[in-house]
Amino acid sequence: MILRDAGVDDLAAIMALEHASFPTDAWSENTMADELASPHTRYVVLVDADGATQGYAGLRALSGSPDADVQTIAVASAARGRGLGRMLLHELLRRAIDAGAREVFLDVRDDNAPARALYASEGFAEIGRRPHYYQPDDVDAVVMRLALTAAVKEKLA
Ligand SMILES: CC(C)(COP(=O)(O)OP(=O)(O)OC[C@H]1O[C@@H](n2cnc3c(N)ncnc32)[C@H](O)[C@@H]1OP(=O)(O)O)[C@@H](O)C(=O)NCCC(=O)NCCS
Repeated sequence: MILRDAGVDDLAAIMALEHASFPTDAWSENTMADELASPHTRYVVLVDADGATQGYAGLRALSGSPDADVQTIAVASAARGRGLGRMLLHELLRRAIDAGAREVFLDVRDDNAPARALYASEGFAEIGRRPHYYQPDDVDAVVMRLALTAAVKEKLA
């Protein structure tokens, strides 16, 4: 499995995973294209030996900002449970550190147990909620934060 920077050439493969992973609230192709092209984001993909994209993840980190945001992270359903989601999250955290961020924020659906468990296991803590944030499913967003402490940096080095 190769983890590499994503670009606009990865748009079709990412959108296929996006629709499969977020059936009711997938981003549009235009939104994803803007994300991939933005100078303020860093996207990565995981590509297997056959050239198939098995996961992607994106971070928003504005230059000079003390914080960064996990925009999205997804692994192909057949490839889940093998550590790829954690690998992608670690890469985003490394990139947040490289960008000079001191904390990372994210939103996750209240009913997304696998993602919440992943984030909690990496030290993200719930700091708030956005009621009814995810529509049309009417599910709350849980806002989580991780401080990029010396201990976190050492673990990711
Ligand atoms: C969330 C997601 C990216 C995790 O990817 P993954 O490759 O399966 O995750 P990993 O194998 O790296 O597992 C990492 C941790 O996540 C948690 N986890 C993963 N699958 C889980 C499940 N089915 N139930 C509970 N916890 C789970 C565990 O804490 C796990 O650690 P462990 O293996 O030590 O128990 C994946 O489930 C996914 O793509 N879901 C659909 C898209 C999505 O919801 N993205 C998150 C948006 S906020």
